[in-house]
Amino acid sequence: MPLLEEQAEKQSLLAQEHGIESFEFTYHAARHEKVWLMQSLGSFYYEYRWIDDVLRMVKAGKEANVYLCTSGPGMTTEYLAAKVYRPRMLRNLKNDHLYREGREDLDRDGAVIFDHRKLNAMRKHTSYGLELLHTSWLEHEFNTLKLLHAAGADVPRPIASANNALLMGYIGDEQVPAPTLNSMHLDRDEAHYLFKRVMRNIRIMLSCDRVHGDLSAFNILYWDGKITLIDFPQAIAPAQNRSAYRIFERDLLRVGEYFARMGVHVQPRRLAAELWTSFGHPFIPEVHPAMLDDQDEQDLAYWKSLHR
Ligand SMILES: Nc1ncnc2c1ncn2[C@@H]1O[C@H](COP(=O)(O)OP(=O)(O)OP(=O)(O)O)[C@@H](O)[C@H]1O
Ligand SMILES: [Mg+2]
Repeated sequence: MPLLEEQAEKQSLLAQEHGIESFEFTYHAARHEKVWLMQSLGSFYYEYRWIDDVLRMVKAGKEANVYLCTSGPGMTTEYLAAKVYRPRMLRNLKNDHLYREGREDLDRDGAVIFDHRKLNAMRKHTSYGLELLHTSWLEHEFNTLKLLHAAGADVPRPIASANNALLMGYIGDEQVPAPTLNSMHLDRDEAHYLFKRVMRNIRIMLSCDRVHGDLSAFNILYWDGKITLIDFPQAIAPAQNRSAYRIFERDLLRVGEYFARMGVHVQPRRLAAELWTSFGHPFIPEVHPAMLDDQDEQDLAYWKSLHR
């Protein structure tokens, strides 16, 4: 049976099994996208009733699309955001091994993978291995979200993860999603206040043993005067990754660059070094070779000077 028909059959069996109507949503997806959404969001609908409908696509990102969903019965908020990863795709990161250094690979239940067959498949990048890696990225994102949310950081509320999707609190309203901070022009007072708020979040992350790894005004949402940090699959733990400080400093430089444009006086390099030390994180003297690709001479000289 051709794949699409096979999927349709599966979905209608699932619907019967759970005694509910099959998952027909408002969003007009193209044929393949629809199947992809059914596969990725089906369990949120059929098994758990976390969601009731998919209203529309919020944004098509490089690695995932985000969709606006209405919540299922029993949920306290009206809307949820579903981040759906592109099918069996290794993250589009230039140096994905850089972020994986020292971090365990997780299976779809969020448990650490010890099975040699699976570890081998991931090492060899077989198609099964790529699938496992894909799941591991997603589970890391969900774990980080849970950890940071519990610690009081400004992140979307984590709801659930499935084989290819992550369900979380939605920021915005039915008409428009929250814009990303980079598209906002803030007056100086607000910029000052929000910069402090970002720093508060960075401190919470460090206290949770996490560095975002891709922090910038593009991964901060702005809504009703408040910020929400998003997009965590590449988050790393400071003590386990030799490039952690470089990555941390780059996060601060990118954030600093936006707030400096809004008129805030920031010294991101100094801040990075002070914060890192105050949390007792080690300055590990190796720089991962892959990291050398995207740093300029001046950066490197400065960084080395910290270790003298
Ligand atoms: N919880 C949310 N509520 C509202 N909008 C969201 C939410 N999460 C993500 N978005 C929107 O979806 C976009 C993509 O999400 P995210 O950054 O997590 O994925 P990505 O694949 O890394 O995308 P990109 O390549 O654009 O960075 C965000 O820039 C934001 O506009
Ligand atoms: Mg992003």
